[in-house]
This record gives sequence, C-alpha cells and structure tokens, in this order.
Amino acid sequence: MYNYIVTTMRVSLFQHILSVLPAEVAHNLRMRLMRAAGAMPMGRMWMKMLYAPKNKEPHPQVLGLTFRNPIGVAAGFDPDGDNLQNLGAMGFGFVEIGSVMSRRHPGTPRPRLKRISGKQSLLDRSGYPSLGLEHALGKVRKRRKHTKHLVIGCNISKMTSTHPEDIVKEYLRVFRNMYQYVDFFVINIACATSAKPYEPRTPDEIRAIIDPLFEFRRGQLDYRPVLLKVSPDLTREELDAIIDILIETPLDGIEAVAGSSAMAREMGCTTGGAVSGAMLTEKAIETVRYIAQKTEHNYPIIGSGGMMQPEDIKRMLEAGASLVALNTGLRENGMRLLKATTKLLNTPEIQEIAEITETPNTETTTEQ
Ligand SMILES: Cc1cc2nc3c(=O)[nH]c(=O)nc-3n(C[C@H](O)[C@H](O)[C@H](O)COP(=O)(O)O)c2cc1C
Repeated sequence: MYNYIVTTMRVSLFQHILSVLPAEVAHNLRMRLMRAAGAMPMGRMWMKMLYAPKNKEPHPQVLGLTFRNPIGVAAGFDPDGDNLQNLGAMGFGFVEIGSVMSRRHPGTPRPRLKRISGKQSLLDRSGYPSLGLEHALGKVRKRRKHTKHLVIGCNISKMTSTHPEDIVKEYLRVFRNMYQYVDFFVINIACATSAKPYEPRTPDEIRAIIDPLFEFRRGQLDYRPVLLKVSPDLTREELDAIIDILIETPLDGIEAVAGSSAMAREMGCTTGGAVSGAMLTEKAIETVRYIAQKTEHNYPIIGSGGMMQPEDIKRMLEAGASLVALNTGLRENGMRLLKATTKLLNTPEIQEIAEITETPNTETTTEQ
C-alpha cells in the first residue's frame, strides 16, 4: 500500500514535469519512459496496478470485435506501435496505431506541435511522422501477452510527399500489407497537419480511396472492418454525403473527429495545421450526435476529439459513440484519465450505454 501511494505521487509529479516541457518533447519522453518501464521486471504489472480498470464489465461488442472496455488510444499517440504491450497492460480497450505510411516519413520539421496557452489544446503541424510499414509490421505481427486481448486498429493517411495520382495506391498498399495483422482499419481523410493538406470531401473523391480497399477485402478469408475518419470542419451537406456512403457501401463505421484545420486557420496558421484538445470537445460530441441520430444508432462510431476528462467521455458515449479514442487528453492530463474514467464506466448507466448495436454491414468474403 505504501509503495502504491508513493508511486501514485511520483506519477502526479511526473505529469507536472511533462506539462512544463514542450509538447512533443514531453510526449516523446513519456513514450520512451513507458518503453523502459515496460522492459523492466514487474514493469507491466505496475502499469496494470496503477492504470488498468478494475471492472470486468462491460465488454462491448463493436464491429464484430470484443473490446475490454470502450476507451482506446487514437492515432498519433503511439504511431509506430512501440508501446502496444504497455498500453495493453494499462488496460486500454483498443489502440489505433499510425498513421502508418508505406515508408519512413519524417513529417514536418520541428517544432511542429504547440500548446495553445490556457486552452488545454494543441496546434498540430506534425504532418504525421511515421517509421513506416516495415516497422509497424514488426510490432503487430506477434501478439504477445499484453496485446492478446487488445484490439488493434491501423490508421492510414497519405504521406505529405505522395503525388496526387498515387494517393489511392498509397492507402491500398498499407491496407494490403497490414490486413492480416490488425483487427480493424481507420482511413483518415482529414490529413490537414502538413503544408500539403489533403481533405477529400466529395463522394467521388472518397469512394476512389475506399472502393479499392473493399475490393481487396472481398478476396480475403478474414473480415476486417473499415472506418472513415472525418474532419470536424465538414458542412452538414458534406457530412450527409459521408453518411450516405456509410449506408450505401460496405463501410463499417465512422471515426469523428480529426483535428480542426478551420480552427488552425482562424488562429492565423496558413501553412497547414490542426487544433486538437479541449477546443474541439463540443464540436466532436455534436458531430457524433448528428451522425448517430441520422443513422438511427445503427452504425459504430468512434468518438474522438477533446476527450480531456471522464465527463467528456461519458457525454461522448451518451451522444452515440460506441468507442472513444483519446489523444490530447492523455498527453495533457496523463494516463490517469483512463482510470478516472473507468470509475464512471462502472456505473450501470454507462454499462447500458456501452451495449453496442452491431454494424448492419455484413459483407462476406464470397460477395463479389
Ligand atoms: C500530435 C498529434 C499527432 C496526430 N497524428 C495523427 C495521425 O497520425 N493520424 C490521424 O489520423 N490522426 C492523428 N492525430 C489526430 C488524433 O488522432 C485525434 O483525432 C485528434 O487529435 C482529436 O483528438 P484529441 O483532441 O483527443 O487529440 C494526431 C493528433 C495529434 C495531437
């Protein structure tokens, strides 16, 4: 008990130190230390004790997969899958690795991640750095002890350097290579954090990316759900068009939302960038509520954007999200956000919310 209290105090102090370091330095330090701690004897056991939810229920069934709990890690937090084992030990329900790029992608030169003073938000101009497909494959090929029950998603975005005519091929290349090693895919069509933003919005542009993925999937023995990750800056008409795609194609769900490029522009950022964190909370919840109502709660939605405290996550689930993905909230408030939320998940009210409707998309491998 004494050890536990001392460790908890050290964790709070550590979070305080991180909060005064530049945002990217702080995150990289956290991830490095997490790796080092995970490699130590009993390291993962401590992580489990400190952070993992004690509740065994609910086990939401979403996308045909069983999740330990509906809270996971969004893309960009562990982009190369280096901490999958540790995040698994901490008790997250899922981790979305990526964005995975077909080759090593340096992203935008540093500094590229800035805290927005007093707003619990970040201005992300990272351009999604990635160590590339080979590295990611090395991390997901073997399911080890702590990732056995962790649902792993793969997020795919385009590289800053990808030539416009190669964009479709780029998504397909990563999809094909990762297909047998992950549980689901998120296709990010809100790539706004580099000087060459890419945010396709018309149905034709979007279908050009996802149709080849469905075609590949039809030839496979195993079914991997595919979700589309959308921008918070879409007009109602653009969002309606995406909902139509969800209903009319074998798309399995939507992740809403990515960082906001419109907010970044309002802040005077003219060379690409996206705002994440608390400034996004209301917009993210409102977007999820809209999609859920429009689709009569029939399709899985991953809620993401400004989930800074347990109350935000509760509201996101109430709005209609089946799962909730965290990024800036974990960076700024620490991993204790998971544990604090699980207390709330133990309430019967939330357990009821977290009982998920299965996707009506039942594309089979024999369908041509
Ligand atoms: C530093 C950073 C890197 C990110 N990298 C990615 C990425 O590679 N792919 C992606 O789809 N989203 C990426 N995101 C977006 C997040 O996954 C998330 O959708 C967005 O930040 C909103 O959630 P949040 O407010 O909880 O951060 C990144 C966000 C941040 C702050």
